[in-house]
Amino acid sequence: MLRKENILLVDDDIGILELLQRHLQSLNYHTYKAVSVKEAVRILKDTFIDLLITDIQMPEVDGLQLLKFTNEHYPEMPKLVVTGYPSVSGTLEGIKTGAIDYLTKPFTKQELKEAVENAFAHAKSQNQSVKKSPSTMPLYEGMIGDSEGFKKVTELIERVKNNKATVLITGESGTGKELVARAIHYSGKYARSPFVAVNCGAIPENLQESELFGYLKGAFTGAVENRSGFFQAANGGTLFLDEIGSASLAVQAKLLRALQEKEVVRVGSRKTEKVDIRIIAATNSNLLDDIHKNHFREDLYYRLTVVEIQVPSLSERRSDIKKLAESFANRYGLEYKDRHFKLSPEAYEILNRYDWPGNIRELENVIQRAVIMADRSIEIQHLPDRLKFQISFEDEKFIPLKKMEQKYIERVLEHTNGNKTKAAEILQIDRKTLRSKLN
Ligand SMILES: Nc1ncnc2c1ncn2[C@@H]1O[C@H](COP(=O)(O)OP(=O)(O)OP(=O)(O)O)[C@@H](O)[C@H]1O
Ligand SMILES: [Mg+2]
Repeated sequence: MLRKENILLVDDDIGILELLQRHLQSLNYHTYKAVSVKEAVRILKDTFIDLLITDIQMPEVDGLQLLKFTNEHYPEMPKLVVTGYPSVSGTLEGIKTGAIDYLTKPFTKQELKEAVENAFAHAKSQNQSVKKSPSTMPLYEGMIGDSEGFKKVTELIERVKNNKATVLITGESGTGKELVARAIHYSGKYARSPFVAVNCGAIPENLQESELFGYLKGAFTGAVENRSGFFQAANGGTLFLDEIGSASLAVQAKLLRALQEKEVVRVGSRKTEKVDIRIIAATNSNLLDDIHKNHFREDLYYRLTVVEIQVPSLSERRSDIKKLAESFANRYGLEYKDRHFKLSPEAYEILNRYDWPGNIRELENVIQRAVIMADRSIEIQHLPDRLKFQISFEDEKFIPLKKMEQKYIERVLEHTNGNKTKAAEILQIDRKTLRSKLN
């Protein structure tokens, strides 16, 4: 079957919107309409849009702002500008254009068709050439990693992306669990259906049930109207339940039922509602411990782990550090300073030696900060101290304490560029002691 692309139409002129819609629908595209930039941004947040068609001249926020916004947040999405004023194409050169094509009013249906097809083709070739750029090729939107440890993760993503098997993602904090959940959804065949992410740990226990399953008017004080919950919102797509270990026992019982019977009941109702949903849950705590303490239902645990994806910690996938660091350096370099950033070999050496307890999130923060501190190249001095003074022990290769001390002092001196006063400060010994140790 022909794939139906989603096209978002933005114009303050309803006549044009409807004309565009009529033509595009007859060409078998799926369309969304927005009469303002604000409305367009809302639709973009909730929907997977394949092509944006926008007017430039609009009251309040104009189309240029929308193009800037989408270039930043949806760089790969093709854009087609419909304009009545050929002169604005000059204005457009001012902004960094992604894939922007133009169509001038008035246009025929045939001209529209060609412009849309060109915009898709254009974006495709651009994205491919971007993807060809070495070393930082993302697997899924923004996901990097080809280490052995990470390969298992990508293999499992491939296995589950096109079916609705329940998935449990486990891994330390900052390893990329949420990104894995998004990759499953957005690379699979349900990508066009909703992806709803809920952090169970962020919802107070007494509200979890009504937030997840919805409620009926009058079900409790404050329930002034019927409301759907996250389950209804995610219907047809994916519900991502983050920090599942924080779900209350009442919610756990209902989740079990939702998984077994594929139905939910709103708070205050007796009627069951069918839901067609893939559930992806994530946790950074050990659920088996929680089961032991009677905080987590064992039967639910087994229902959730139909497929378990264990995301390795960054120290278990060290060979990915370089590519991750380079990609963050490029991303933040462009965002903050409008240019690409390099990592010096020495800085990379330090990154590679560190343990990364905060995993990829910590690496991202370190590079982000370094980009702010540096000009073009990230050097040792742009990295936080905690990375520099970590001592790594080679396995089973023990050395005398005196020698270790010597090595460590040398490392500190290296960092201070031979400045003994600074080194003594870091080591918290006086200069005389340092000198005698050096002799
Ligand atoms: N493979 C990857 N490639 C590039 N960036 C990644 C990768 N994995 C994670 N990240 C980035 O690292 C950060 C943390 O990822 P994410 O939020 O998915 O982690 P998490 O496991 O859900 O963490 P937490 O347990 O703290 O919620 C995000 O900014 C994410 O974009
Ligand atoms: Mg998370």
